[in-house]
Amino acid sequence: MTGGGRTVRSFAAAEEMARAGAVAFVESAARAVAERGRFTVALSGGSTPRGLYERLAQKEIASSVPWEKVFVFFTDERCVPAHHKDSNFKMAAETLLWHVPVPPVNQFRMRGEDADPARAAAEYESKLRAFFAGEEAPSLDLVVLGLGADGHTASLFPGTAALEERERWVVASFVAKLDAWRITLTFPAINAARRAVFLVSGSEKVEALSRLLAPEGDVSTTPARGVGAAEVLTAERSS
Ligand code: 6PG
Repeated sequence: MTGGGRTVRSFAAAEEMARAGAVAFVESAARAVAERGRFTVALSGGSTPRGLYERLAQKEIASSVPWEKVFVFFTDERCVPAHHKDSNFKMAAETLLWHVPVPPVNQFRMRGEDADPARAAAEYESKLRAFFAGEEAPSLDLVVLGLGADGHTASLFPGTAALEERERWVVASFVAKLDAWRITLTFPAINAARRAVFLVSGSEKVEALSRLLAPEGDVSTTPARGVGAAEVLTAERSS
């Protein structure tokens, strides 16, 4: 266990890490369906989570998930149309959602195409609040998170006001370094999850990972530290 209640499991290669991530996904799904009759999961974008989704779509693993009882949300989205190459939804659909029988009505996409990101964020929050009606925060069964080389997770980037949000579950955030708007879950939403799993691989993440795992640190410079208890799966090699 490290600072902030984070546990770490290290693997030599990303494929082994993705396999461990798939086991965690399958375990969480089985437990959630047994206890509550459904499994709610929020997916992140990026190349590292991509490896997990590709693994989950493989028949020997996909066959062990009750996909018809799975409800898919997203931790964040780029402000682009769903067919855009940068869309997190597109990536998750191409690698996983188009290959497993999750009912379309169970897929909750953030509307990155909306010309008004704040409106899209508020709309997504309304959907979350309706789905998790009566709850103080969205009790997602699992949140899959990546880690940026700058220490961001979801679209919670260093130095952004989104890091300070304590009431809303979803916000729009302008990321100056990217010169782009993002829609993202906030820490109250992410930290309400029953389980959070980070997937981190590649040499370019070593420094951010060390900041994430350090006993002390600053959320404003390493936003991933704003996520409470979490499992961190790491791989030295990205491939
Ligand atoms: C996004 C993601 C983001 C991602 C990390 C890791 O929209 O980009 O949600 O949080 O998971 O940046 O991305 P890589 O695995 O591509 O480095």
